[in-house]
Amino acid sequence: MEIVICKTREEASRKAADMITALVRKNPKAVLGLATGSTPVLMYNELAKDVKAKKVSFRQVRSWNLDEYYGLAPTHDQSYRYFMNENLFRKIDIKLSNTHVLNGLAKDPAKECKAYEAAIRRAGGIDLQVLGIGSDGHIAFNEPGTSLNSRTSIVYLTPSTIKDNARLFFHGRLDEVPTAALSMGVGTICEARKVVLLAFGANKADAVKGMVEGGISQFCTASALQAHNDAWVFCDEAAASKLKLRKYYAWRSATKLGSR
Ligand code: GLP
Repeated sequence: MEIVICKTREEASRKAADMITALVRKNPKAVLGLATGSTPVLMYNELAKDVKAKKVSFRQVRSWNLDEYYGLAPTHDQSYRYFMNENLFRKIDIKLSNTHVLNGLAKDPAKECKAYEAAIRRAGGIDLQVLGIGSDGHIAFNEPGTSLNSRTSIVYLTPSTIKDNARLFFHGRLDEVPTAALSMGVGTICEARKVVLLAFGANKADAVKGMVEGGISQFCTASALQAHNDAWVFCDEAAASKLKLRKYYAWRSATKLGSR
């Protein structure tokens, strides 16, 4: 796991965008795994700038998103499909028909999840997966206590995630946040050939510490990435503040990025 520690979230977002732009330039038909949450928004804006500046094109890119609230229609303004359309897809030249988000209204969630996994497999697997991290160390909606081998399935949110997300997505109305979601599993995520995880702010410092320097544990599902051989964490100084070896990681990642 490489930890890139930046002074600001803007700088971290730019560096992460550089990695995605470079990958898509090299492989215009890349398969991307995408994430929601407030964290990747700055990076998505940087990708939009790259498209506008004709540095890269997403016309042939296909994408699969991590998760969707169970029970929300794609047109619901708090759904992750709506979020992606607003924050990325309408800003870049990707074909909407090439973008995939789990259907939160699926009558048979198990069937929907199985078909989603099969579609990813048919596309050749995910070349690069974007991730945020929950304050309890979850990735996608894989809460503490989820098997690290889990596959895409229906999952249940912890009270702390419901609270965190109510603040961001539901104007603080706790009772409006769905308590379940369809989510890629930890095992599914770890199969991506490259992972780019973003983490900003002091409220992510414990999660980042658990992910990077804790043991691999289903109590912090992001820690599964320790076993991945091409996982990059782009964070600001606040999110990295609890890492024991932060100076070393910063030097090592700068050296590696510099030599690419
Ligand atoms: C939700 C999403 C995660 C995301 C997390 C953190 O739980 N399912 O994919 O990483 O929120 O969101 P934020 O970036 O807003 O802190």
